Amino acid sequence: MTLDFVGNLRRTHDCGELRKQNAGQSVLLMGWLDRSRDHGSLIFLELRDRGGLTQVVFNRDRNAAVHARAAELSREFVVAVRGTVLERTPENVNPKLPTGEIEVAAEELFVLNDAKTPPFTIDDETALTAEETRLRFRYLDLRRPRMQRNIALRHKLALAVRQYMNAQGFYEIETPFMTRSTPEGARDYLVPSRVNQGSFYALPQSPQIFKQILMISGFDKYFQIVRCFRDEDFRADRQAEFTQIDVEMSFPQRETIYGVMEGLVTKLVHEAGYAEPHRPFPHFSYDDVMRRYGIDKPDLRLPAMATVNDCFAAGDLDKLKFSAEHALLAFRVPKCGDLSRKEREELQAFATERNARALVDIRIGAEGPEGSLAKSYPDAVKNIVEATGAESGDLIALCGAPAGAAVKRHDYSTHVAAGAVRLHAGQKYSAKHGLLNPEDFRFLWVTDFPMYEWNEEEKRWDAMHHPFTSPHEQDMDKLESDPGAVRALAYDMVLNGTELGSGSIRIHRQDVQARIFRSLGMTDEEARQRFGFFLDALQYGTPPHGGIALGFDRIVMLLAQETSLRDVIPFPKTARAVDLMTDAPTPVSETQLRDLGIGLRKTEKK
Ligand code: AMO
Repeated sequence: MTLDFVGNLRRTHDCGELRKQNAGQSVLLMGWLDRSRDHGSLIFLELRDRGGLTQVVFNRDRNAAVHARAAELSREFVVAVRGTVLERTPENVNPKLPTGEIEVAAEELFVLNDAKTPPFTIDDETALTAEETRLRFRYLDLRRPRMQRNIALRHKLALAVRQYMNAQGFYEIETPFMTRSTPEGARDYLVPSRVNQGSFYALPQSPQIFKQILMISGFDKYFQIVRCFRDEDFRADRQAEFTQIDVEMSFPQRETIYGVMEGLVTKLVHEAGYAEPHRPFPHFSYDDVMRRYGIDKPDLRLPAMATVNDCFAAGDLDKLKFSAEHALLAFRVPKCGDLSRKEREELQAFATERNARALVDIRIGAEGPEGSLAKSYPDAVKNIVEATGAESGDLIALCGAPAGAAVKRHDYSTHVAAGAVRLHAGQKYSAKHGLLNPEDFRFLWVTDFPMYEWNEEEKRWDAMHHPFTSPHEQDMDKLESDPGAVRALAYDMVLNGTELGSGSIRIHRQDVQARIFRSLGMTDEEARQRFGFFLDALQYGTPPHGGIALGFDRIVMLLAQETSLRDVIPFPKTARAVDLMTDAPTPVSETQLRDLGIGLRKTEKK
C-alpha cells in the first residue's frame, strides 16, 4: 500500500475526546487502527490513541475511493481521518465507550504508516499472552488500554507526591547514581571506572547515606522519587531497578513521620479514585504482629489469630498431639464452614509442609460449633469461638507445633507457620466471599522491630533494617550483652499484606554509630574503610533525624489493582534481571574491556 506524507495535517482531537456536543464539526483524528468491521457498503474502524477509541465509518455510496482504501487497512496501521462528527442513533450508542454516543463519518483517509501483524492482539480481553512475548514486544504491550491506564496512573501519583511533599515543606534533592556501596542487604550493581582502573562505582541500593548527609547539611526536610538498584532474588514484588519515595526529616519524633506519610498515602488513594482509608493507621509492635498474624506484613482484611493454650485443660494438648511448650493458635476462616473434608485436609497438609500441625475441624453452624473437637472438648471450643470471634458460617483452624517439637528462644516459627495457613486459607477460600476486596485499603504501622537478626551462616548479628537505625534509648545497655533483645526505632508501613515502606529514627551520634558497626562484627578499620566519610560527617553537628522510603512501584501496583510490579513499570526486567526487549545485559567488546582494564575469567556455563 502506498503511504501518505504527513504534510500539514493537524490533529484536532484525540480519540477519547469527542461527545455528542461535537456533532456537526469537521475533525481530524490520528491514531492506530484497533479493529474494523466490514459490512459491505459500510466499514467501521475503531481508531485508537492514548485518549481512547473513536468509531469511524466509511460509506461506499458517499466516497467509493476512500471506502476502498479503508478496506485494505490492517490492525495497527497508523492513519489520519478527516470527517464529520455524527450523533449515533439511540440503538447504536455504545455505552462502554466514552465516545460511544458519536461516530465520525470519514471524508478523507491518510495512511501514515503500515504495520506488521502484531504477535498478539492489542486489547485487554484476549486471553493473556505469555508474559515473555509481552515483554519482548513491550512497545505493543504498552499500547493495551490497561497498560496505558497503569502508566497514566503512575504519572498522576508521582505528580501528587511532588505536590503534597512540596506543600509540606520538603525539597526534592537529587543524589548520585554513581557512588559507593550503601548496605541495604542486597548485592550491588557495579560500574567500572575507566580513569581509575580497578575501581568501581556502586549503583545505590537506596540514597540512605546521602539523605542523612543532607540532614547534616541543614536541609531539614528532603524527599526524592528515586531509582534504586539491587541485585537480589526477584519475585512479583521485587525488581532489580525500582523506585522509592525517599523521605528524611530533621528533629522528628516517629509520630511526625507517621503523620506526614499517612497524609501522603491517603492523598494517593484519593487520587486513584478510592474512598479514603481510616486515620490514624493502627500501630502494632513487631512482637504483636508476629503473635497475632505470624508475619510482619499482615493483611488486616483477614481476622487475627488468638493464642488458645489456656482454653484447654492440662493434658488435652498432648492428647491432640500438639506441643504444650509452644503457642497454640486459633483463627477463623470466615464464611468457610462449608469446606469439604478434602479442602480441610488440604489446609492441614499445608501446615504439615511447614513443620506445624493443624486441625481444621470446628465449624460454626446455626446451633453453634460442630465437628468432632466440639463434641470431645465442648468447653475448650466454646472459649476458642469466643477468642476468635467466630460467627455462624465460619470455620476455625487450630495450628501449633507437633508434640515433641524443640523449643527455641526468640522463636516465632509456630506463629509463622500458622500465619501462612491463615493467609493461604483466606486467599484460597475466603476471597471468593469478597473478603479480600482490593478497594479496602487497610494500612498499618509495624513498629519496634528487633535491631538485629542472627545470621546463622556467618555466625554474627546482622542489622534487621540497616546499620544506621537507632536502637531504643532504653535498650542501649543490651547492645553487647543481649543483642537479640534490643529493639530498634524502626517502622514499616504495611498495606493489605504488602510492605509498602520501611524507615527509622537514625543514629545521629558518631560514638553510637561506631558502636553499632562494632556490634555487627565490623572492626574499626573496616568501618573506617567503608564509612569513614560518614563517621567524619557525623562529628560536625548532626541533628537528630529520621525518615522512611516507600516503594513507589508497589503503591502504584496496589492502587492499579495489579499483582505484579511488571504491570506498572514501563520497561521491567524478568526474574533473571533481563530486559527481554533490548536483551540487556549483553557482552561487551574486547576494546571496551581493555579500556576499563578488565579481563574476563572463563567460567563454566551453568
Ligand atoms: P527498604 O530496603 O526497606 O528501606 O526499602 C524501602 C521500600 O522499597 C521497596 N523495595 C522494593 N520495591 C521493588 N523492588 C525491590 N527490589 C525493592 N526493595 C525494596 C519496598 C520497601 O518497603 N533506606 C531504607 C529506607 C529508610 O530507612 O528510610 C530502605 O531502602 O516497598
